[in-house]
Amino acid sequence: MINVGIDISNAKPFITSEEMSVINGEIIAHHRDLVSGTGKGSDFLGWLRLPSGIENDLITRIKEDAQEVRNLADVFVVIGIGGSYLGARAVIESLSNNFSAMMPDNGTPHILYAGNNLCSGYHADLLDVLSENSYSVAVISKSGTTTEPAIAFRLIKDHLEKKYGKQNIAGRIIAITDAHKGALKQMADIEGYKTYIIPDDVGGRYSVLTPVGLLPVAVAGYDIEKIVAGAREMQAFLISDTSPASNLAMIYTAYRNALYRKGKKIELLVNYQPCLFYFCEWWKQLFGESEGKEHKGIFPTSAGFTTDLHSLGQYIQEGVRDIFETVISVGNPSRELEIPRDEEDADELNYIAGWNMSEVNSKAEQGTTMAHVEGGVPNIRITIPRVNEETLGQLIYFFEFSCALSGYTLGVNPFDQPGVEAYKRKMFALLGKKGY
Ligand code: PA5
Repeated sequence: MINVGIDISNAKPFITSEEMSVINGEIIAHHRDLVSGTGKGSDFLGWLRLPSGIENDLITRIKEDAQEVRNLADVFVVIGIGGSYLGARAVIESLSNNFSAMMPDNGTPHILYAGNNLCSGYHADLLDVLSENSYSVAVISKSGTTTEPAIAFRLIKDHLEKKYGKQNIAGRIIAITDAHKGALKQMADIEGYKTYIIPDDVGGRYSVLTPVGLLPVAVAGYDIEKIVAGAREMQAFLISDTSPASNLAMIYTAYRNALYRKGKKIELLVNYQPCLFYFCEWWKQLFGESEGKEHKGIFPTSAGFTTDLHSLGQYIQEGVRDIFETVISVGNPSRELEIPRDEEDADELNYIAGWNMSEVNSKAEQGTTMAHVEGGVPNIRITIPRVNEETLGQLIYFFEFSCALSGYTLGVNPFDQPGVEAYKRKMFALLGKKGY
């Protein structure tokens, strides 16, 4: 059953029916190109039928290795950057207790992240934590040559050797990388690390449903079979439904691109649950790296409401009118709290005493949407009944499919990232790397 819905009633008034029918005609053709593999970058379409192709043996192996890590380690360090870490973090943080670092030990390792920045303070602090805790690591890099995770892995490997002895560390390292090329693959083969392969035709930002995402999520104790099941349902639906009136990804693609063509150049992905912060970060990377090319593309950014209504809210309501919002609207909270009655009522909140806090959050969402739409900010609402493994699996595939369709609608190749090399070339030259 598809649990994701889309409500475009607050985007519709900003677009004419003629504009919609032009864009729908284009999207029908792009859907055909995507599904038949005749569009740009079609050698990177491994993600398209990935959920249905995941074999039971792989799931079993991931679960066994995850259990081994859980038995061995109190901390699991995920080393990776961009698509090699954001998917895992998005799922884990969406499902975790908001204060998991402060919760009593329940046998689940704390998941920490390294190699997603070059900050020495961050990594020195991390090494301090690792000195005090038993740990294992996953080093994830498709190319096996990315500077940030390579430096972090060198530091952590050195720390592992000092802590456990050179001969004893292979069992604490899992490498997830390309099948053939790259320094990481060579190192893993020589040192005898457990290794998982990222398929050649799956790019980093589309890799969350490979071991890149599934292994850390399994170590964190979540049900990867349910995530894959959710993604499979969405895959079957989005590939087979060719109607722009009912295919959720076609509807989302049509509206976001129609809005872009009318000058709405910025898409703000909004959540009302802090646990979805990293899901929004994953989405930003997926769309930013896929669409921002050839001096085109919707700028993807995100906000957590109501927190950011007290920072960005003023701008959204009255600043430059080039923004539209896409809200991830969750029907049911993970936990409920009732607002208590207070005899004194000094804070004058008794008018909502007895309400669930989530009902107040829901009214905040409705009220904010009304205000922002009145202020000229179109609103697309993506609905899910609750945040769980199945709905996350569906949402992940929904956004991946939408991103590919949307890239085609913009006229770019959504599967390459030539612009990411520019900063690396400058940095390598400054570092004195040979050949730069
Ligand atoms: O989506 C992408 O392709 C990128 O964000 C990569 O995931 C990121 O640059 C890390 O690359 P790698 O996995 O090769 O270390």
